[in-house]
Amino acid sequence: MRTLRRAQGHHRHPGFPSEVVGKTFDMAVHLNGLVHHVPARATETVLAAMERVGLAAPSQCRSGECGFCRSLLMAGDVWVEPESDGRRDADRTYGFIHSCSSYPLSDLEPKVPPGA
Ligand code: FES
Repeated sequence: MRTLRRAQGHHRHPGFPSEVVGKTFDMAVHLNGLVHHVPARATETVLAAMERVGLAAPSQCRSGECGFCRSLLMAGDVWVEPESDGRRDADRTYGFIHSCSSYPLSDLEPKVPPGA
């Protein structure tokens, strides 16, 4: 069941905000001391948007659980499927996201650790 949901994308989750489907946001990615402007579709994860343009962002489980892709969201809002939100409470409080399970809801400014 989990595999099927992953293949369809979390944006098909009943809790996903349908009003952003079809929108693309500007994402200013801070990575390795540079800022990269990346178009980020509302229906793709922050990680997928970075990978689509060739940025070497870290990832491992790709399901929101390991924290390997943990990034500081300095500006903007994301949607996270509740069942895949593996962040610690403190990380949620201080604005960290797991880029593999976070979907853009606005222009974003994530600070991403160097990739592997
Ligand atoms: S790659 Fe594991 S939480 Fe994102």
